[in-house]
Amino acid sequence: MKDLAIYGAGGFGRETALLVQQINAISPRWKMKGFYDDGLKIGQTIDKWPVLGGIREALQLTVDTDIVVAMADPVTRKSIVEKLNNKNVAFPTIIHPTCQTGDDNNQFGKGCILTAGTILTTGIKLNDFVIINLLSTLGHDVVVGSYSTVMPGCSISGNVRIGECTMMGTGARILQNLTIGKNCKIGAGAVVTQSFIDDKTIVGVPAYEK
Ligand SMILES: CC(C)(COP(=O)(O)OP(=O)(O)OC[C@H]1O[C@@H](n2cnc3c(N)ncnc32)[C@H](O)[C@@H]1OP(=O)(O)O)[C@@H](O)C(=O)NCCC(=O)NCCS
Repeated sequence: MKDLAIYGAGGFGRETALLVQQINAISPRWKMKGFYDDGLKIGQTIDKWPVLGGIREALQLTVDTDIVVAMADPVTRKSIVEKLNNKNVAFPTIIHPTCQTGDDNNQFGKGCILTAGTILTTGIKLNDFVIINLLSTLGHDVVVGSYSTVMPGCSISGNVRIGECTMMGTGARILQNLTIGKNCKIGAGAVVTQSFIDDKTIVGVPAYEK
C-alpha cells in the first residue's frame, strides 16, 4: 500500500482522514502516515494521527507519498499545492464510496476530493484540486475550475461553468446554463439566477453582488 498524508489538520483535514479510512475499509489502498500542517508541532497527535511537519518536511520526503491537500479555502489550497514541488509527492483524487461518480465520460483532474453522498451525472469535468463536499449534486455538463470548493449541500444545475478558485457556500444553488467567474465567493444559501464575472461575492435569494 502506498503511503498517504493529508496536508491540513483542521476540520476538513480530519474529515478527509476519515474519508481515507472509509475507502480503506472497503478496499485497502493507502497506509495513512499522518498530517502535514504548518501551524502545529511535529509529533503532536491529531485524532490518532501524528503531525509529520509542515512544508519543509513535505519537501524533504524521499519515499513516494500521496498527499491530499485538504484545506477548504481555495486560495490556501492553491498556495500549498504550488509550494509542494517534490518529485516523490503525488496528488491522488479521492472519492468516498458513497459518491455517485456518474457516467464514465466524466473527467476528474488530480487532487480532487469528493466526499460522502455527492452525486454527479454526465458530461462533467472537474479540473485539478476541486472539492465537492457532502451531499452536493452536479447536473449534466457542469465544469468546475481548478481549486474551487463546493461546500456541503450545494446544487449545481446542468451546463453551469464555474471558474478557478471559486467558493460555493453551503446550501447554495446555481440554476442551469450560468457561468460564474474565477475567485468568486457564493454565500451560503444563495440561489444564483444570473451569471457573474470574476472576483465577485454573491449572496441572497435571488443572488446579488455584495
Ligand atoms: C458570503 C461569504 C463568503 C461572505 O463572507 P465575508 O466576505 O467574510 O463577508 P461578511 O461575513 O463580512 O459579510 C458581508 C455582508 O454579507 C452578508 N452575508 C454574509 N454571508 C451571507 C449569506 N450567506 N447570505 C446573505 N448575506 C450574507 C453579511 O450579513 C454582511 O452584510 P452587511 O454588509 O449588510 O453587514 C460568507 O458569509 C459565506 O456565506 N461563506 C460560506 C461559508 C460556508 O459555506 N461554510 C461551510 C463550511 S463546511
